[in-house]
Order: sequence, then structure tokens, then C-alpha cells
Amino acid sequence: MIKRIKGTQDIYFEEMKYWHYVENAIREVTRLYAFQEVRTPIFEATELFKRSVGESTDVVQKEMYTFEDKGGRSITLRPEGTASVARAFVENGFVNLGAPIKLYYVGPMFRYERPQAGRLRQFHQIGVETLGSSHPTADYEVIEFAMNLLKKLKIDDAKLYINTVGCTKCRPKYKEALKDYYADKIDGLCTDCKRRYNSNVMRLLDCKIDEGVAANAPSIHTYLCDECSNHFNELQKLLSANDIDYEIDPKLVRGLDYYTKTAFEIRAESLGSQNQILGGGRYDGLVEYVGGKSVPAVGFAAGIERIIMVLKSMGIKPETEEIASIAVLPMLENAFTLAFEYARRLRRKNISVFVDVMDRNLRNRMKHASRIGAKIALIIGEEEIEKGLVTVKILETGAQFKVDGDFMANFIEEKLIEL
Ligand code: HAM
Repeated sequence: MIKRIKGTQDIYFEEMKYWHYVENAIREVTRLYAFQEVRTPIFEATELFKRSVGESTDVVQKEMYTFEDKGGRSITLRPEGTASVARAFVENGFVNLGAPIKLYYVGPMFRYERPQAGRLRQFHQIGVETLGSSHPTADYEVIEFAMNLLKKLKIDDAKLYINTVGCTKCRPKYKEALKDYYADKIDGLCTDCKRRYNSNVMRLLDCKIDEGVAANAPSIHTYLCDECSNHFNELQKLLSANDIDYEIDPKLVRGLDYYTKTAFEIRAESLGSQNQILGGGRYDGLVEYVGGKSVPAVGFAAGIERIIMVLKSMGIKPETEEIASIAVLPMLENAFTLAFEYARRLRRKNISVFVDVMDRNLRNRMKHASRIGAKIALIIGEEEIEKGLVTVKILETGAQFKVDGDFMANFIEEKLIEL
């Protein structure tokens, strides 16, 4: 048997309800916040991610699904969405459409990571990006959006952590200070830390293995330039003024290179080691980096699988989904024409209808009607055809009515309102 690839999932039936629950909340909250959907390709030129996510990051060094296509181009399955959004912004001239441009996306991302609970090789993100504003209110708004998305999903087991990673002006001095601090400790650190010392020294701060050493490292907050410091203070004021609880985590540095100033994450303790539900921040240099004008931007992405894990751990169950309101059950070969005609009439009234095209007895037809969540069954047998009637059965109560075929659609419409 051919099996699915390690770190991927089939999503179906009961599990699908959770996805619809999350996707519906996403559509609802993005609409309330006036974010517009963008869909970019799931593969891009490898160069895009190397340049934006950063050559020295784990994502680019170890986790990308990269291959050569038949034309000899290096292609990569997207490991994240922000780089693609920045590219689409530049390539399609969004800069001319006025600012800010507020976009969201939902879709699969690919990272070659060691699979474990909450960590997959194909996972799904909902991401939002606001492009065009350098103001801390834009950072605040995407954070508020994230909090409201979680609220809509009824997730209250989640905590916001914020930090700043400085900018190209102040960060180099901070990195020097970190290198000095780590210089005489590097021999005793883990292999990842050793590798990152030269290429990405800030990542040493969020190493799980060498947490103890990082505890006494210099803080970025003493190295910030005035602009970054003011930006961070303003964001905090906005969060406090709007009653959003947060904690400053000076070790929060994010794993992608494009961040400037604000960085934030929301973590749910119940998730264990992969407890980050979402992460994001400001990336003022990225659009220019991928070939556009200088356009400040901020956004975040959340892992849908992780959101679903939190829902399950909190015991939140999405309601049973109705696949069709009405099940039409033709009991004879010659009842099908009428069955499809009745179905058409109901669909014209915007009512979802399942026509049973299987060859089986009434008991089994009724069983299936319940399974798909139908509220009403329409039974068409010999007597019904002869008299131009139809039997309407309310599944919940078992009540039955014989209704004239011509009035069937109106009758059902009214019954559905009552149910
Ligand atoms: P990220 O922190 O790499 O950020 O990923 C965002 C979220 O995707 C994580 O918080 C996590 O929930 C989920 N995630 C990441 N990797 C996996 C995985 N292997 N399996 C399951 N879930 C995963 C970004 O991707 C940035 N593009 C976010 C952003 C948008 N920053 C600004 N705008």
C-alpha cells in the first residue's frame, strides 16, 4: 500500500468540522477587520525565501522542500506566506492602490521538520499582513485582530508575548554585545548555538538547551535607538489602553530574518513543547528586499493545526454539521425523475438537498439521512407517485405528513423555520 508522506495528514469527517469551525471564524473576523484575501502560488523561486526569510535561518538551511524543475529552475514549496505576499505586492503594483493594503491568506505551508505533535511537514496557516503603515497602531491592530480571532474561537488559554528586535541602525551594536557575552561560553554550548554564533547570534537567546546561559545575556532594550524604543513604548501604551494583557519576553527573537522592531507570539501552555499558536511582527525592510519600494509592514501567521489542538485540549467541540437539510428518498426506479424535480424546487429556495441514489431499503435510507444531519426526509413511493403526494417526515420527532407535490417546497420551507 502507498502511504501518505511522513508529517502530512488526511483531514476528513469529524476532524473536518474543526477545520470548518476555524475557517468560518477566520472569514468572519477578517471581514470585520477589512482584510482582503490573497492567494499566492504554493511554490516560488527558491531565491525568494533565501533572500527574505534569510540564508542563515533554520527554515532556509534545513527545512525547505527545494527541487529543480524540468526547466532547471530551483523551486521551493513555500515554508511561510509573508515572503510570497511581499513578492505579490511588488509584482502586482499594490503600492499604487493606496495604503494600507490589508491582506490575509489561508493555506498549506511546507517545512522539513522532525514531525511530532503540533509539528508537521505540511501544515496550514492563517496569516494577515498590513502593508504601508509604519505606525505602531498597525502593529496594535494586527495583535488585536489575533486576540479577537482567538476569542471568536473561544480560546482563552493563550497568552501574548511581545518584544522588539530593533532595526538595522541599533541591532548591529546589540549583536556585537551578544557576541562578546557569548565569546568565552561558546565551547560549552549546543551545536545549534555554535552554528548560529556567527550567522544569527540573536537566535542563541531562544535556545531551549542553553536557556541558563541566555538568562544573563545583555538585553536588546538597552541598545535600542530612539525610534525603536518609542515604537515599542507606543505599542505597549496601545495594548494597555485597550486592556490587552501581555508580557514582555526579551528572549523572543523569532526564527525568520526579516523582522524589525515589533516581534510577538501567542502561546498556549496546554500545547506542551510546540506551544506557539501564532507568531509575527514588523518587517519594514522586506518589500524593498524583494525588489519594491521601501514599504513598512506588519503581520502574523497562526498554525491551524495548533489552533485545533488547543480547541481539543479545551474540550471545545464544533457543532455537528448538517450536510443537507433535506434527504429525498425515491423508493422506486420510476420515482427518480420526481425526486430530482423536487430537489430542484427546494434548491431554488436555497435549501440544501441530498438525493439518495443508492439501491437500498427505507430503513437504510433513513439511517443515512440521519447520518448526514438531514432534518426532513421526503419519501416518494408508489402511492405518492399515483396521488401526486409526497410523504414529509420530520426526523427528530418522527411526525409524518402527506403533502401535495405542488405545495411541498413551501411546506418544507415553513417547517424548516419551525425546526
Ligand atoms: P512562524 O512563527 O514561522 O511565522 O509560523 C507561524 C505559525 O505557524 C507558528 O506559530 C505555528 O503555529 C505554525 N507553524 C510553524 N511551523 C509549523 C509546523 N512545522 N507544523 C505546524 N505548525 C507550524 C511565520 O511563518 C511568519 N510568516 C509569520 C508572519 C506573518 N510574520 C509576519 N507576518
